[in-house]
Amino acid sequence: MSSKMTQEGLHVAFIMDGNGRWANFRNKARYFGHRAGAEALRHIVEVAPHHKIHTLTAYAFSSDNWGRPQKEVSTLMKLFSSYLRSETRRLRENDVKLSFIGRRDRFSKSIVRSMEAAEQETYNGKLLHFRLATDYSAREAILHTAEKLKADPKINRDNFHYLLTQSNGTVVPDVDLLVRTGGEQRLSDFLLWECAYAELFFTDVMWPDFREEHLQEALNSYYSRERRFGRIPQNANTG
Ligand code: FPP
Repeated sequence: MSSKMTQEGLHVAFIMDGNGRWANFRNKARYFGHRAGAEALRHIVEVAPHHKIHTLTAYAFSSDNWGRPQKEVSTLMKLFSSYLRSETRRLRENDVKLSFIGRRDRFSKSIVRSMEAAEQETYNGKLLHFRLATDYSAREAILHTAEKLKADPKINRDNFHYLLTQSNGTVVPDVDLLVRTGGEQRLSDFLLWECAYAELFFTDVMWPDFREEHLQEALNSYYSRERRFGRIPQNANTG
């Protein structure tokens, strides 16, 4: 386990919403929005380490997204394949570790092979742990972990957390900041356990337009908040 990587820095998670609308505003097919979304993701992964982010989890494909029209699903799969082809080497060169969370059994064999190869090739990345949630449902992930632990009499929060979050050999800390673009304000079955005390930041910016300045805005908001984790402020009147 690369514990050094997970103990320092922030864990920021992104719900990358608004690709379809971004394309519609431009009278283009939704595909263009997803392609521009992939570019925005590339950019954010590149700048994240400059902002003390050491774990970044992005929601690329939810388990419920299988319910989209077949054409859009196959477009997303092609984009995912080409993203893996073009990004793996760059990530390794940038010392980024890539992992996937979510089910794999519904992807084509060739996509699964590329996912496994990408995880192996970037296994030793230390600067950033970049996790892509693909065919992901937080409720499914929690259920799956509960299944694995049901016969264990020593079940507790720590071992549950370990089993739920370890990906590609690394245990992942709770989310510090969750950013959702595209104007909606909901969690959509994303990282429900890991976000127990996350600060939430919602923005109307559509994901394909999301850049470092927007990330900075989200982080400024994060740093302006007081995280109490259920306690009271240190200087509070305790009477
Ligand atoms: C939500 O926008 C976005 C998705 C369902 C897919 C996210 C995918 C990407 C950001 C690009 C691809 C990433 C990889 C790794 C290949 P939406 O389609 O729901 O937008 P809308 O709400 O405007 O319709």
